[in-house]
Amino acid sequence: MSENRVIGLGDHLPWHLPDEWKHFKKVTDGKPFLMGRKSYEAPDALHSLYRNVIVTSKAPDIKENSTEYAKDISDALALLSDEKEVFVLGGASIFSQMLPLVQRLYLTIVHAQVEGDAYFPVVDQNDWELVSSEYHGTDDAHAFSFSMNLYIRKEPE
Ligand SMILES: NC(=O)c1ccc[n+]([C@@H]2O[C@H](COP(=O)([O-])OP(=O)(O)OC[C@H]3O[C@@H](n4cnc5c(N)ncnc54)[C@H](OP(=O)(O)O)[C@@H]3O)[C@@H](O)[C@H]2O)c1
Repeated sequence: MSENRVIGLGDHLPWHLPDEWKHFKKVTDGKPFLMGRKSYEAPDALHSLYRNVIVTSKAPDIKENSTEYAKDISDALALLSDEKEVFVLGGASIFSQMLPLVQRLYLTIVHAQVEGDAYFPVVDQNDWELVSSEYHGTDDAHAFSFSMNLYIRKEPE
């Protein structure tokens, strides 16, 4: 997300950051994905080669190769209950429903104020411990600098 929490503009990512994309692919490689129908259908969507669970109210009664459909979040979680780790890929509606449930946030902050129409939910810093952060500056291929952060949910006191 950008500094002003933007994650999308008209079904696209509002930036082109090849090294962040590489990082994203490396972190999520081989993992199951949970995502909303709009993000799954977006032209720049990354799909899991292993397993994609798509949340939609119009779930077709089919299972295509690595893609399954769930009628809501609890249905998706039931389908994924045998998995040790699931990556929540968005978009905005799925991030806000899943944020209270996740244990880790792989959250890249793009250091810019960006125009958009989809937002990441507010992250309460009291709930999260920053355990690693890798900064990437601007260059010919990256118009914005960004920090690839990993947060782990704090244990309740
Ligand atoms: N920066 C990032 O990391 C990132 C990642 C992903 C997406 N994005 C951006 O996010 C934007 C898309 O976000 P979005 O919120 O509009 O769409 P979304 O979350 O990808 O998908 C929304 C759709 O998911 C289904 N859905 C969500 N919750 C549901 C529930 N509880 N029960 C049943 N179905 C449910 C509905 O599908 P039906 O309409 O089929 O019922 C809904 O229309 C785009 O701009 C995209 O580029 C950014």
